[in-house]
Amino acid sequence: MRVRVDVTDRAYDVAIGDGVRHELASLIATRVPDAQMAAIIVPASLRQQPWFDLTTRIETVIIEVPDGESAKTLAHIESLCESFVAHGLSRRDVVIGVGGGATTDLAGFAAAVYQRGVAVAHVATSLVAQVDAAIGGKTAVNLAAGKNLVGAFHQPVGVLCDLETLSTLPEREWRCGQGEVAKCWLLEGRSARELSTTSSEDWITAAVALKSRIVSADEREGGQRALLNYGHTLAHALEAQKLSGVPLDVLHGEAVAIGMAFAVRLALRLGRVGTDTVVAHDDVLAHWGLPTTLPGPVRATDLLAAMAKDKKAHHNLTFVLPDADGFSVVPDLPFDTVNAALLDFGAL
Ligand SMILES: NC(=O)c1ccc[n+]([C@@H]2O[C@H](COP(=O)([O-])OP(=O)(O)OC[C@H]3O[C@@H](n4cnc5c(N)ncnc54)[C@H](O)[C@@H]3O)[C@@H](O)[C@H]2O)c1
Repeated sequence: MRVRVDVTDRAYDVAIGDGVRHELASLIATRVPDAQMAAIIVPASLRQQPWFDLTTRIETVIIEVPDGESAKTLAHIESLCESFVAHGLSRRDVVIGVGGGATTDLAGFAAAVYQRGVAVAHVATSLVAQVDAAIGGKTAVNLAAGKNLVGAFHQPVGVLCDLETLSTLPEREWRCGQGEVAKCWLLEGRSARELSTTSSEDWITAAVALKSRIVSADEREGGQRALLNYGHTLAHALEAQKLSGVPLDVLHGEAVAIGMAFAVRLALRLGRVGTDTVVAHDDVLAHWGLPTTLPGPVRATDLLAAMAKDKKAHHNLTFVLPDADGFSVVPDLPFDTVNAALLDFGAL
């Protein structure tokens, strides 16, 4: 399967399927023909995986980074760029991010800023990276004050989503990816019944196709790309609570599922949808065993304060919400209404 991301003058393909990581050398030869060196950025833990057998057919250096979110710092960007210099990586060469979304975000940002931008390609190995993070050119690292606060738009020259790499993905990381896949499924208005006859390759491709279509139409999130934040208003608030010490056992994709279960109930309260839409949501989320209730005791006032501070909210309460015609970004929701919906949803 191949999906085109049609961003003006920088279009590229996302390849999905068993063994597509072996296309890396031909991807480099086609898209970065002058490259003489590839710098592969990979977490040490993933370098040991059986599928880490990549070939580039050019001189290749492998640079190990810490696993996951802990690598997404400006300090790691600096040390990656120092390594690039030490290895003699030039502007015409290529960076390859191999791993989950944290690694593709890190590799993408390093490639965006090194010598004002070198080509980057991704071998996405987690479900989140395959259906979301590696596609669309958003790259970022974290600050102590919050996630993804420093970054750049830098489209890759290609993305390889090798389904064989998913065989080693821990079960909970699968579930996180399924939260993002469920979001795409719901944004497309598709039902749980259809899922019973859809293979994982097909629903991964459907999610990639939706993201690619939206990014192609709105690369810099001026409009419809914001719809991809469905479920994220409450999800980010739950993650902010967790960071501030509230003991909530929830990961991002699970928080997005909870956020969508809440958003559809908020839409019901606002008269935008009927109970049939709530049931349809719950059925899709249940198909993947995703959570639909709050992950622990949390106060509505704390969630509201976190939501108002969300960097996508512009200091008011903004939600992506469904209605009879699809989904839209709804700003300036009254605090009282969201507060009442949160209390109904189990917040304290
Ligand atoms: N740029 C974007 O548009 C975008 C979109 C969504 C998420 N993100 C970012 O992506 C990150 C979340 O992505 P993630 O969940 O992939 O995080 P991650 O990269 O931390 O991966 C999760 C865990 O799975 C492991 N892993 C990855 N592939 C594996 C495999 N095949 N086998 C075994 N273990 C494997 C990783 O080592 C890590 O421990 C966050 O930092 C988020 O901000 C970015």
